[in-house]
Amino acid sequence: MPSPPAATLQAEFLQLPSAQTLSVDDELAQGLLQPHPSIAPKFLYDALGSKLFEAITELDEYYPTRTEAAILARHRDAIALACGAGHTLVDLGSGSGAKAASLFGALRPGRYVAVDISVDFLRRALHELQARHPQLPMLGLGLDFSAGLELPPQAGSGTRLMFYPGSSIGNFAPAAAVDFLRRVRAAAPGGGLLIGVDLRKPAQVLQRAYDDALGVTAAFNLNLLRHVNRLLGSDFELTQWRHVAVFDAARSRVEMHLEARCDLHVRWPGGVLMRRAGERVHTENACKYSVEGFDALLRQAGYSRTRCWTDPQGWFAVFVAH
Ligand code: AVJ
Repeated sequence: MPSPPAATLQAEFLQLPSAQTLSVDDELAQGLLQPHPSIAPKFLYDALGSKLFEAITELDEYYPTRTEAAILARHRDAIALACGAGHTLVDLGSGSGAKAASLFGALRPGRYVAVDISVDFLRRALHELQARHPQLPMLGLGLDFSAGLELPPQAGSGTRLMFYPGSSIGNFAPAAAVDFLRRVRAAAPGGGLLIGVDLRKPAQVLQRAYDDALGVTAAFNLNLLRHVNRLLGSDFELTQWRHVAVFDAARSRVEMHLEARCDLHVRWPGGVLMRRAGERVHTENACKYSVEGFDALLRQAGYSRTRCWTDPQGWFAVFVAH
């Protein structure tokens, strides 16, 4: 008699309160009231922002996603061997989870934990993923991991392979990246890290990647103001702002800003921001590393064994660290 089909699993979902000491409102207001106003890049990712980012990854100019995917495909077996099988795959900033899912076959995880700040986006994405992988236990975790990375018991007790692809690590300045990687390491005792890092390259390639002809990156950046208006109750007028991307060679990073098109005021309960035409609000850093530079960063964070794979042009790197 054939054995009955194994039960089909249902993805679990969990929203964790932020470990952040400041409320979202206070965090936003504090950034806006600095001499050089800023809004943290995590606010780019409301439901629409996550979709706009997905659209960016399909642009000709935006090379990181497809270059990373090519490295992962080409070196899949060696990378999987370096990672080991059977771990809980913890996907930091999972988005649709498509990237992690493309590695399920090679990494053979025992469990999948998708962590993202946008729970709503996570729900839809994970239900679809669970339907395609009915035997893999899945947890969707709504968590602002920029503030802390303590995983709940629902994440399971298996050893963890932390997955931080796409060069999201570039959002941190190098010293903050070391702090973050220390916390990633602490969240996976006896486990490892699989991370994608964008590398240094000619300025005009970087410039185009962050200021595409179709204006998708501009929409992605401007959408942050809609999100902030909802969170803070502010009255940012989108038509008064323009997307700016600049490469700072000295700091080896692309910066995204929103620049006032005219003299303007933004008000919210308890605060006001004045900008003259041409003045900016800083919304993102995307740091670019050399292979040696990033390897040094991993070691500073406490990792002692590292391996690295790059594409033939040397534009992007995938590291496995223990
Ligand atoms: C998701 C942070 C890796 O910095 O390349 C894309 C975000 N910003 N275009 C990046 C982003 C503008 C992206 N990361």
